[in-house]
Amino acid sequence: MATGARRWLEPYPVYGSFIDETIGIVARQTRDTVSFAVGSPAQEALRLVGAEELAQAVIARDGARALGYGITEGDPELRDLIAADARARGVNATADQVIVTAGALQAIDLACRLFIRPGDVAVVESPGFTNALSALRNHGARVLEVPADDDGLDVAAAARLLSESAVRAKLFFVVPNFQNPTGATLSATRREMLVALAHDQRAVIVEDDPYRLLRYRGSDLPSLASLAGDVMVIQTGSFSKTFLPGIRVGWAIADPELVRAMAAAKQTMDSSTSSLGQRLVVEFIRRGRFAAHVDALRVLYAEKQARARAALARDFAGTGVGWNDPEGGFYLWVTLPRSASARQLLGAALEEGVAFVPGDAFAIERDHSAALRFSYSSPTPERIDEGVRRLRRAFDRVVT
Ligand SMILES: Cc1ncc(COP(=O)(O)O)c(C=O)c1O
Repeated sequence: MATGARRWLEPYPVYGSFIDETIGIVARQTRDTVSFAVGSPAQEALRLVGAEELAQAVIARDGARALGYGITEGDPELRDLIAADARARGVNATADQVIVTAGALQAIDLACRLFIRPGDVAVVESPGFTNALSALRNHGARVLEVPADDDGLDVAAAARLLSESAVRAKLFFVVPNFQNPTGATLSATRREMLVALAHDQRAVIVEDDPYRLLRYRGSDLPSLASLAGDVMVIQTGSFSKTFLPGIRVGWAIADPELVRAMAAAKQTMDSSTSSLGQRLVVEFIRRGRFAAHVDALRVLYAEKQARARAALARDFAGTGVGWNDPEGGFYLWVTLPRSASARQLLGAALEEGVAFVPGDAFAIERDHSAALRFSYSSPTPERIDEGVRRLRRAFDRVVT
């Protein structure tokens, strides 16, 4: 293909996700690699679903309904189920406030399509969920990274930064429970403060909540949507972490007029979410298996989290490496001694046969280079031990 003559036409820059790239990086490794990189459910969890039998039953019974194009807003039965679940946790939703999407990721992109045009200010946690930061940037947002700590987004700092930069926020993007990448949960006080700030700014909140059900300790906090009053909240969720990520089924809950607008935007993207994927979810829930499955996942991942923390305590004692203790989800946030570079560590780690996502992948300008996201969801407990041993070997080579 002749490329030289085409140089005068440059595409606009587009942003992706280093998290997703690590999947390919790990796949290309020629040596055995323990991956703490992907936030993917464990193989054991996927097997528990029994997808083969479920798919056979759905295709045999639903035929074209499972294999043809679907309604853009989603399978009516699934919309009902998602709305009923939202009502059960204090969000006043009916089926016409639900749109089923290709994962939570598409729901986030749809929210951007509705509310972001070039130059609009979007406030995000730093470190924050890379794919959302990139989606916002791809829609032209000016992204304001606000520090997050063990209690989630520092809302007072957000207010201060907005006022110092003399800009109005259009959209707040937060992952309130067991955030990606740190695992932190937004405290009750900060939830109320965030709703008040969004009210002052006349901004929309995108509350992205795929990990809510994977709580191992402590108790649930009220969602931003349940606290919203007259603040507009788009709540996004997913069956990726609690069922099967490969079927790409997530959702958004929002006011009916926003759902209609999101459906219009979705018609230019994929017309409808996978009909088969949606019918698999419905069948699983209809058989009454979902609650018990999530209970089993909680046990599975709580054990893995404890195993990962114990392995880190064993192999990194006295090194200056630190890690946190989230109450749920898939991630630990590991901090290295101040001068260390997680990117550099990743190079050595891959040679030793272990992978993770370096902290700088979760930011645009703020410095998280001496930290990394450690996902314990996917490897077995024995592989977690082995992966941490390899990580220590890599650390000894790179960090002096
Ligand atoms: C915070 C957060 N939001 C959304 C997603 C994407 O989920 P889905 O597979 O439903 O698109 C992830 C997946 O890692 C996530 O961590």
